[in-house]
Amino acid sequence: MNTKIDDKKNSTLENNSTSNDVLNEITISVKELRKSFKDVTVLDGITFDVKKGTVLALLGPNGAGKTTTVHILSTLLLPDSGDIRINNHEVVKDVEKVRSLIGLTGQYAALDEYLTGKENLQMIGRLYRLSHKAIKKRTTELLELFDLVSASNRAVKTYSGGMKRRLDLAVSLIASPPVLFLDEPTTGLDPHSRLIMWDIVRQLVSQGTTVLLTTQDMDEADSLADKIIVLNGGKIIAEGTSEELKQLVGSERLEITVAGDDNFTRAINLINEENLSIDKQARKLSFVINGGVRQLKQVLDRLDEDNIIVENISFHNPTLDDVFLILTGHMTQQLNTESEIS
Ligand SMILES: Nc1ncnc2c1ncn2[C@@H]1O[C@H](COP(=O)(O)OP(=O)(O)OP(=O)(O)O)[C@@H](O)[C@H]1O
Ligand SMILES: [Mg+2]
Repeated sequence: MNTKIDDKKNSTLENNSTSNDVLNEITISVKELRKSFKDVTVLDGITFDVKKGTVLALLGPNGAGKTTTVHILSTLLLPDSGDIRINNHEVVKDVEKVRSLIGLTGQYAALDEYLTGKENLQMIGRLYRLSHKAIKKRTTELLELFDLVSASNRAVKTYSGGMKRRLDLAVSLIASPPVLFLDEPTTGLDPHSRLIMWDIVRQLVSQGTTVLLTTQDMDEADSLADKIIVLNGGKIIAEGTSEELKQLVGSERLEITVAGDDNFTRAINLINEENLSIDKQARKLSFVINGGVRQLKQVLDRLDEDNIIVENISFHNPTLDDVFLILTGHMTQQLNTESEIS
């Protein structure tokens, strides 16, 4: 399935490729990006762009190629082919220039554990060749912003996981780069720190920073991203705003929770409705309800005839979780494989 909602920008760019206005607006441009590791294709020709001062969220199941994309865009990994530009500089040829424009927070913390928090910030500031004065000012600001002042003179190896994550994010902001790559920025943060991080991203974006982030957290994509791209099997399978993606999976949904794992597997086969979203852990099934009471009665009758106990029934508007589960078919595949094995 390739559900491309927003093709307008691409065609505008092609039609006006000489127009500086349009080119200036596009900060990240990726065309036909391909990457394989040995004979495994990880990125199979992906094309997208990110406008200046906006947030793009890359969503996809584990192994979809999100980190690979971020690594290629941030010059850490070479693509096999494709045209990738940051502010119209080719990431493959203009490595130095591109590096001066970007900040990166990787999926796993990249800090010197033996240095203090403050020293980590200062070291990266020096690598960016910031002045002594600028380093001092920025270090103080970032330590405050990320609530790390009291721990700033302690070695990072004594920090908790969340503190390391916050410092990692602070480090990527030391040079105030116009383009920021955040690979799962809030994984491992507590709810409070996650909200602080979101505020910081919003603040940076309002000042013109362009952000590309990957996330497994649908609330994060929903509340931060101007545009969402869903990656699966090395291809873009859907793109659009959060609202556009939700419309893809229909309007109102009926959610049924059944009692017992055995009941759950049987219920999936019995319900067999279009766009079924399956949450195995919570034993919840949800699907579009457009046949009113008659459809509801039919579904409940089918379950009742098979002695399946329904714990809860509710209606809800589609969430990004539904979109993700339906489009990637991840849970469904997982479940089918498991039931095939047993
Ligand atoms: N250096 C490498 N050598 C071989 N295979 C690799 C390498 N790096 C990544 N891969 C493979 O490429 C695929 C995509 O990996 P990637 O890390 O980009 O996924 P991801 O979407 O970031 O997943 P996650 O959500 O788990 O972080 C995976 O199948 C992974 O095993
Ligand atoms: Mg990853």
